[in-house]
Amino acid sequence: MHSLSERVEQLRLNDCPDWLYLLHEFDALYRQGSDGGSRPIRTHRKRVRDSLALIVEANPAVNDRPPEVKPVTAHLGRALDLGERGAVQGMSRALARVAGRLTWEYGYEKVPKALARKYAYCEILGPRGPICAERLILGFVLFAPSTTYPQHSHKDIEESYISVAGAWSENDAAVHAPGSLILNRPGLEHRITTGDLIPCLLAYAWTGSEERLNQPGMKLSSPRKARIEKGI
Ligand SMILES: [Fe+2]
Repeated sequence: MHSLSERVEQLRLNDCPDWLYLLHEFDALYRQGSDGGSRPIRTHRKRVRDSLALIVEANPAVNDRPPEVKPVTAHLGRALDLGERGAVQGMSRALARVAGRLTWEYGYEKVPKALARKYAYCEILGPRGPICAERLILGFVLFAPSTTYPQHSHKDIEESYISVAGAWSENDAAVHAPGSLILNRPGLEHRITTGDLIPCLLAYAWTGSEERLNQPGMKLSSPRKARIEKGI
């Protein structure tokens, strides 16, 4: 039996090894590998690592949020299985340990019907928790096979995706395999498509001001939104 005072005690990161090890995997992803010779990518990777190191050092509060699923989370098991065979298997395994505790959401007030069945994301660190932090958001986004994530941009937020499982393309420019990192600088319009047969799981990091990370104001850019609502 726990006493009342023990039960109300604030959980801290060091009390939650599964969350802590997941952050170690994020640190490894942003530390290892190449920046491809790109200065902005090098700067972004360092910014993510440095912010994360400060957060972990401070042993932040952990406020577990109520777990939530979305239709696309039926694909999570397969994505994790594929992730375990790929270039970032440590991340896939660490995520599997907390899979039952994730809060999957859409982030948009009005999510187009076609997208609601095929996409969701979960945050693991940020202003809304579960690991509390002000200057960085870390999370995962999951897409079903054959998904088009409509064109959008993020004001004042720098975003990177690292592929954990699946193959995907952004702005029809390249195909990204597990282990690839792509940087979307603030305001860059981007649209994502995923391959036919397998789900796609991406780890992501957002950096920006505290104010903006608290209120990202996610909006789809209107022409693509109109297209997806019509199912085109
Ligand atoms: Fe984005």
